[in-house]
Amino acid sequence: MKGVVLAGGLGTRLHPMTKVTNKHLLPVYDRPMIYYPIQTLVNAGIREILLVTGGNNAGDFLRLLGNGKEFGLQHLDYTYQEGEGGIADALRLAEYFADNEPICVVLGDNLIERNILRASQAFQDQKTGAKILLKEVSNPQRFGVPVLEGERVVRIEEKPQHPRSPYAVTGIYFYDASVFGIIKTLTPSGRGELEITDVNNAYIKAGQLTWDILEGWWTDAGTIESLFLANQLVAKTGANKLEG
Ligand code: G1P
Repeated sequence: MKGVVLAGGLGTRLHPMTKVTNKHLLPVYDRPMIYYPIQTLVNAGIREILLVTGGNNAGDFLRLLGNGKEFGLQHLDYTYQEGEGGIADALRLAEYFADNEPICVVLGDNLIERNILRASQAFQDQKTGAKILLKEVSNPQRFGVPVLEGERVVRIEEKPQHPRSPYAVTGIYFYDASVFGIIKTLTPSGRGELEITDVNNAYIKAGQLTWDILEGWWTDAGTIESLFLANQLVAKTGANKLEG
């Protein structure tokens, strides 16, 4: 399995910090934010990683990460998203890199306490389709929220005013190669973006989506509040633990 980190976007919810740099280069405790999602993939045994970035500071990622030596990698791939077409639009750029292999996609502002080894193994046993990871949160209306019927996710609603479950769809996704065909069928949402939630809903329609609960803490770091929380969580307990 290959890994993709999505680190584009304007990060407007973090203005004024993101007026002069990319959100994913901001510090979370003792490291730049982008270190955490890369470590998540490396800890899952993934060695071939593509970083999709965009905006004005793309060159800084290369200066910071080089070939990924700090993560024990020999090589890192990079690509550049023109414009702000959304998460699924950024993922579209990974088709050539994926080369028909399954991929694990991590949003560049998502941090986890532990690791995704078990989910990664389960997805590889599943062979086709997609897997998402859910986490119970106190503010689901900020995220993609699954509608559950028993054990089945019947649909995901993006930032619903009235969440139908207490779970967030975290920004860690496993996809087979059909994801790129799905992206080609998408049309922009109300906020003018190709939504990753629409990708996941297409897998649900095809009866091809499984889910797990993510163990340990999870947070994004895309708003002032969540960036502050991420700093506190990392300072207190550390992130990306290899055990359990
Ligand atoms: C994105 C997804 C959302 C998901 C979240 C996780 O939201 O659209 O479904 O729950 O990431 O971090 P965004 O943070 O881009 O608004």
